[in-house]
Amino acid sequence: MLRTSLSPIFHRCSSPIFSSSIIRHRRNYNVAAASSTATDPPMRQVDVITCAKEDHSIIRNLGEKFDKERNNHEKQKIANTFIREIAVHSHTEEMIIYPEFKILNNGENIADHSREEHREIKKDLSKLDGMKVSDIGYNELFKKIMKTFDKHAREEENEIFPKLANAIHESRRKELGRKFIITRPTVSTRPHPSAPDKPPMEIAAGLATAPIDKLRDATRDFVEINRSYTK
Ligand SMILES: [Fe+2]
Ligand SMILES: [Fe+2]
Repeated sequence: MLRTSLSPIFHRCSSPIFSSSIIRHRRNYNVAAASSTATDPPMRQVDVITCAKEDHSIIRNLGEKFDKERNNHEKQKIANTFIREIAVHSHTEEMIIYPEFKILNNGENIADHSREEHREIKKDLSKLDGMKVSDIGYNELFKKIMKTFDKHAREEENEIFPKLANAIHESRRKELGRKFIITRPTVSTRPHPSAPDKPPMEIAAGLATAPIDKLRDATRDFVEINRSYTK
């Protein structure tokens, strides 16, 4: 899907440096699993809650790697990936999972609360996105975001997702998992705290910002991410 939506932009970028950056970005982002063609193997069926929890785990691992890494260039690559992974996870969750909360008791309030927490995380993530790892205060802001994200993710994992798992049949959760996997490569890869965070307006905002974000990402380095269901 990303391949299709960005093809005209890729074709306009003929600079060898830019092209190699785009190739690097596409490889790191592992878009192949979500780019459906007639020759691709069938997509594995994955429960949407498994998808979300694996995202959480990937983001936590990036936080731990950032803490341990001493080389600033490597640290920046980890931080770039951390920013992208939180942005993509948040946008995808808002579009695919949070609308399902309406089935839960007090579901609208749970969704509003969750979106509010995402907004707070995105505000700080947006500040981090405008800084370099060598800047004063970068490490502290990174740690603050990691702590806030972890608290939010634990609430989802321990309180909200179990309720959702009880309320939605497994077949529906797998259908949502498929949507989650297909949607992820189409959303914005940078935080946009002021943009709409509910579909359908979030979809429209994403269509406007995602191609620009992905072009900006082409000038950045990332660390490799592997997801269990894309192997
Ligand atoms: Fe969330
Ligand atoms: Fe989440």
